Amino acid sequence: MTARIIDGKVIAADLRARVADEVARVKREHNLVPGLAVVLVGSDPASEVYVRSKHTQTQAAGMASFEHKLPADVSQADLLAVVAKLNRDPAVHGILVQLPLPKGLNTEAVINAIDPAKDVDGLHPNNAGRLAGGFEALSPCTPLGCIILTKSVHPSLEGMNAIVIGRSNLVGRPLVQLLLNENATVTIAHSRSRDLPGLVKQADLVYAAVGRPEMVRGDWLKPGATVIDVGINRIPKDDGKTRLVGDVAYQEALGIAGAVTPVPGGVGQMTVACLLVNTLRAACAIAGLPKPAVS
Ligand code: GUN
Repeated sequence: MTARIIDGKVIAADLRARVADEVARVKREHNLVPGLAVVLVGSDPASEVYVRSKHTQTQAAGMASFEHKLPADVSQADLLAVVAKLNRDPAVHGILVQLPLPKGLNTEAVINAIDPAKDVDGLHPNNAGRLAGGFEALSPCTPLGCIILTKSVHPSLEGMNAIVIGRSNLVGRPLVQLLLNENATVTIAHSRSRDLPGLVKQADLVYAAVGRPEMVRGDWLKPGATVIDVGINRIPKDDGKTRLVGDVAYQEALGIAGAVTPVPGGVGQMTVACLLVNTLRAACAIAGLPKPAVS
C-alpha cells in the first residue's frame, strides 16, 4: 500500500478560486476592494520569490497589492514609520512584513506596531493571545493551510492524536491552538523532547515543522497516519545544484503513512492562499461586513 499524496497545488488553487469569487462579490455588493501590503526589507533571494508570488496571487484574486521594498540598512524608525502609514491607509486591509528581517532590526517591535485588525500574519500578540484563548482571531497562514490539508483527508479531527514537532511562533505554536479548536488531542514536541520516535508512533496526525531535512523517518510513523510536512530545506545534490526536501523522509513515509504532503507541492502552496483568505477576512471585518464564506 502506498500513501495517498495530498495535492497542495490543487487544494490551494481551489481555495484561491473561492477567495476570488468572494472578492468579486464584496466588490459588487459593497464596493470594497481588499488590499494587501507586503513590506520587504533587504534582498534575501528566497524572500523575494515569496513576495513576488504574493503580489501575483493577490492581483489574480482581484485584490489590490501594494509592495514596499526597503533597503537592508533601513533604520528601525523608518520601518516603523512605513508600518504606521499602512495602518492609517484605508485601501490597506492586510499588512505583512516579510520575515526574517535583516540583522539590527527589532522584529518584535515591528510586529507589535502592526494594527492587529490588519495583521494577516496573525503574529501580533493580540491575535496570538486571542487564538490561544479560543477567541476569534487572525491566525498565521501556514498553520491554517495545514488544517485545510488535514481536513481534505479527515473532515473531522475530533479525538484524533496529533503531534506538532516544532514550537515556532509562525507555525508550531499557532498550529497547536488550531488543532485544539478542532478538538484534537495535541502533543507538542521540540528539540528537547525525549523519545521523539515513540511520541510520533502514537499520532494519527503528524506535523513536522522543525527545518531539519528528512528528520522524521518512515518507521517512526503509525501505519495509516496523516503526515503534514511543513519543512522546506534546500540541500546540495551531487551535480552541484540543490533540491528541496521536507522535514519528513518522504519515500519512507509513502510506504507507511495513509496520506502525505509532498515537498514541494504541499504546505508551501497553501500559505499564500491562506494569506488571501486572511486579507479578505480582515477587509470584511474592518468594513463591518459579515465574515466571508471562505475558509
Ligand atoms: N517568511 C516565511 N514565511 C513567512 C510568513 O508566513 N510570514 C512572514 N511575514 N514572513 C515569512
